[in-house]
Amino acid sequence: SAHGAVKHFLDLDLLPPDELRGLMRLSHDLKSRRHEIAAEKPFAGKVLAMVFDQPSTRTRISFDVAMRQLGGETIMLTGAEMQLGRGETIADTAKVLSRYVDAIMIRILDHGALAELAAHASIPVINGLTRDSHPCQIMADVMTFEEHKGPITGRTVAWTGDANNVLTSWVQAAQRFDFALNIATPPELAPRPALVDWARANGARVNFGLDPEEAVEGVDCVVTDTWVSMGDAEYERRHNLLRPYQVNGALMKRADKDAIFMHCLPAHRGEEVTDEVMDGPQSVVFDEAENRLHAQKGILAWCLEGAAA
Ligand code: CP
Ligand code: NVA
Repeated sequence: SAHGAVKHFLDLDLLPPDELRGLMRLSHDLKSRRHEIAAEKPFAGKVLAMVFDQPSTRTRISFDVAMRQLGGETIMLTGAEMQLGRGETIADTAKVLSRYVDAIMIRILDHGALAELAAHASIPVINGLTRDSHPCQIMADVMTFEEHKGPITGRTVAWTGDANNVLTSWVQAAQRFDFALNIATPPELAPRPALVDWARANGARVNFGLDPEEAVEGVDCVVTDTWVSMGDAEYERRHNLLRPYQVNGALMKRADKDAIFMHCLPAHRGEEVTDEVMDGPQSVVFDEAENRLHAQKGILAWCLEGAAA
């Protein structure tokens, strides 16, 4: 049964900056003391249910391994193999799972379904990616930035490419962690007005509507992502619009000479990023992928409250 407010991890804009900073410190700590903490098995007796309505490599494996390394267990499900696939409501599913497991991680395109699940669950619900956002990814990204470049507050990150779920979480992170974010997206694939309005209303240092060369000028970090996200149609149109937004060697030269390159992966080599950049000295994409594991240990510990650290 629920006691006190349930600690869901749904979106970065739903958590106050000090809470997110605390969560980040927890992740750094769980990483640096990982062998010692693993021996303590802080998640012993805890079970995480994972529901994947879309494919995943990193999110699935890193959550599974995070639970195992800290002594907990996981149950892996797809929506289709649950009664959800035959029309049982999200609300009823939330109430039933709340009686069995300690937390739910879900990847589902419909963000409303995520919110509905959380509204009816008496256990923490974690957003493992929706069409609208990908907050776990950006916690790992901020962690990776800080390991390579020091505190992110006051620094500048550039995004060039599609205005997708990953970018939305970057915009929210810019406001919450107080860094500048330069954004270059094709006008036809620009961020939704609600996101732009939110950034303005909350004093975020986000510069929308730049071209790629302007966006990356002198920045500390360049980020991009696929041109076609899960659930997207119009493959050909997107490719045509996004081709000028590719991160290649010439574009990276405009960033600070010590700038890092990040990508949540999976990458489409030769499309949004070239091999030269992906495999080059500025790329930290595999550190970033590893940090999904450590960042999510922090998220799980925070959600399960008192279960770790
Ligand atoms: N970055 C990320 O979420 O990857 P997966 O789709 O493999 O989980
Ligand atoms: N924007 C991508 C991220 C994949 C991890 C997608 O939604 O498919």
